[in-house]
Amino acid sequence: MQEACDHSSTSREGHAEGHASAAASAGRRVRVAVFGASGYTGAELVRWLLRHPNVQIAAATSRQEAGKRLEDVFPGLRGQTDLAFSDPDAALTELASPGALDFAFLALPAGASFAYAPRLLDAGVRVIDLGADFRLRDPDAYRRWYGLPHGAPHLLTEAVYGLADLHGAQIAGARLVANPGCYPTAVALALAPLLRRGLAHVGAGDDAGEPVIIHALSGVSGAGASPRPEYQFALLQGNFWPYKVGSHRHTPEMEQELSALAGGSAQVKVLFVPNLVPAVRGILATCYVRPAPAPGPARRPAAAGIPPDAPLDTQVLLALYAEFYGGHPAIQVLPEPALPQAKAVAGTPNCHLAVRFDPHSGYIVAMAALDNLAKGAATQAIQNMNLMAGFPPLTGLEATAQWP
Ligand SMILES: NC(=O)c1ccc[n+]([C@@H]2O[C@H](COP(=O)([O-])OP(=O)(O)OC[C@H]3O[C@@H](n4cnc5c(N)ncnc54)[C@H](OP(=O)(O)O)[C@@H]3O)[C@@H](O)[C@H]2O)c1
Repeated sequence: MQEACDHSSTSREGHAEGHASAAASAGRRVRVAVFGASGYTGAELVRWLLRHPNVQIAAATSRQEAGKRLEDVFPGLRGQTDLAFSDPDAALTELASPGALDFAFLALPAGASFAYAPRLLDAGVRVIDLGADFRLRDPDAYRRWYGLPHGAPHLLTEAVYGLADLHGAQIAGARLVANPGCYPTAVALALAPLLRRGLAHVGAGDDAGEPVIIHALSGVSGAGASPRPEYQFALLQGNFWPYKVGSHRHTPEMEQELSALAGGSAQVKVLFVPNLVPAVRGILATCYVRPAPAPGPARRPAAAGIPPDAPLDTQVLLALYAEFYGGHPAIQVLPEPALPQAKAVAGTPNCHLAVRFDPHSGYIVAMAALDNLAKGAATQAIQNMNLMAGFPPLTGLEATAQWP
């Protein structure tokens, strides 16, 4: 899982291949089920899947809403579907049989996917888990960070980390995809060009390196639909605060993925400071890294006419980022002086990136904005399904952010 930063399936050539395979599969529809469809990410999945040209939703589950029509629970779906919620166990019994289903999205709390993923996989259904149950390769790390024994450790070796824009080739052949967390998606996309080019001073071999410092802001939908006292409007409106400083569950996931992106013996350490802001959707991650003491030219290829030995500055970094993400239409590297903002990506599958070198402090600052429910969850999951089904990666995901 995630050994290499693979650009192939979403590069320009990848899109051309995708169009060819789409032509071959024109009109083909896959049958999908959304487990946890009454939650925030499940509802977002349903919203996008209903307009996907190659998808038929066979089931949308909820224990509490079973029997109710989706449009009676989500007024925004009025007139768009006749589907009713089904009980997840009944849906599993009906759909976990050969040929009944192509894909299952699991939009469930931590620990809940163990009851569904193994049986679905046994029935030949390909599974995309939006939760954390298959993201960490080490089951002991899962137990430490999630406080639960891992319920299906035998599946961890085959689970592919579904960072759709970077691991397309592995995702395409996967049976089980661990859709990344919302913060880790933003952070990995913000830092991947630096790590893959050896430009960040992170730990490797005898060099302890320096931790990556991440300060991130999130809207309240990142916490899911379950109500908590601190999420009352009266407390949230006009307020913002840090939480789980250095102890957020996404820390080991970020360290695992950033180390894999850096390659070799890299052991990236992260100091992660998430903050809740009074918004519904959106993540803005700002990552601070020290440049590698002497990045070799072999790891720093010429980009956009810039020679490999050019001194590191914002222009060089922007050129490297633009080259790295060339051909990834859902990832926009913003030219100076633009900087990412949440509203520009809300309700879209896009991620906006910017990078600066600050000569005063000597830090590289990499920034990413995305919609936690879309790129940070549902649209990335659909991008993964598209890769697995052989559809062009962004099929059914066209959208432009509302402004203002
Ligand atoms: N919110 C985000 O921004 C975000 C982003 C990326 C990833 N994620 C991850 O995605 C997963 C879902 O998050 P969410 O925010 O959508 O959560 P949520 O709003 O709390 O929704 C959870 C859903 O799971 C169902 N459910 C709960 N326990 C279940 C069980 N034991 N068996 C079957 N169904 C169960 C719930 O419906 P019933 O109780 O009616 O069955 C509901 O539909 C989580 O693992 C989360 O960490 C969330």
